[in-house]
Amino acid sequence: MITVRAPATSANLGSGFDVFGVAFDRPADIIRVERAEQTTIDITGVGSQYIPTDPDANTVGAVVDALDAPAHIEIDKGVRPASGLGSSAASAAGAAVALNELYNRGLSRSELVPIAAEGEAVVSGTAHADNVAPSILGGFTIATADGVESVSTDISLVACLPEIAVSTRDARRVVPETAQMAEVVETVGNAATLAVGMCRGDPDLVGRGMDDPLVTPARAELITGYDAVREAAVDAGATGVTVSGAGPSVLAVCRARDQRAVGSAMLTAFDDHEVDARVYQTQVS
Ligand code: HSE
Repeated sequence: MITVRAPATSANLGSGFDVFGVAFDRPADIIRVERAEQTTIDITGVGSQYIPTDPDANTVGAVVDALDAPAHIEIDKGVRPASGLGSSAASAAGAAVALNELYNRGLSRSELVPIAAEGEAVVSGTAHADNVAPSILGGFTIATADGVESVSTDISLVACLPEIAVSTRDARRVVPETAQMAEVVETVGNAATLAVGMCRGDPDLVGRGMDDPLVTPARAELITGYDAVREAAVDAGATGVTVSGAGPSVLAVCRARDQRAVGSAMLTAFDDHEVDARVYQTQVS
């Protein structure tokens, strides 16, 4: 039996839609795999009742097919489904790493990224790799059609997860199909600023680079209280705030010393809108 811990992640980071991602130090899914004639899946943990165990409908089924690696797979969910914290990606990433080892397929971590991304297509309709890449490689990742880069960095984050369900499939429907050139120019500048900030471990640059005029405004409307939560986080010291992945989690970047105050301000702002929420104080890991 092989056991793998696959961490939660946050994708997009505002300006890096479908490209940027970061791995958290917690929460995480635990994936256990054992060789079997036929693939079976058992799921326990947070939100497990909402996840299909049929391999054709589950995110790990596509990974099993791609690696030709039938197995009994146990998934202990630490990452809530439909949270914007890479829940389906954690399971797909963990399964890819574990099955590669179980069957001695010899693929590198980078080679496993597109395989795990096939699992994302089952859930969201698109094989975007921006969550599976950091879950497999760690750190800050840049996933493009041509490959993936990862950088380790020291940046503090606060992810605030409200009790609102937003499916990635639904959140992708509100993404605009076209953009104005001025918005594209602004987004490219912000994304470049963010990448430099990650390389330097500079929360001011990362926060500034998260601004995004293209995708985030439409997604923010799906999250009750988003504007108030954003404002509260900034007032408490956050250097940048955005929607985490497809939402509904809201992600703030800050200095380590401000994490507690930022988390508490975000919770209070959600509470003012009668939304229960929980906070993860984490590091890019
Ligand atoms: N890049 C994807 C999206 C991430 O925003 O739709 C989903 O978690």
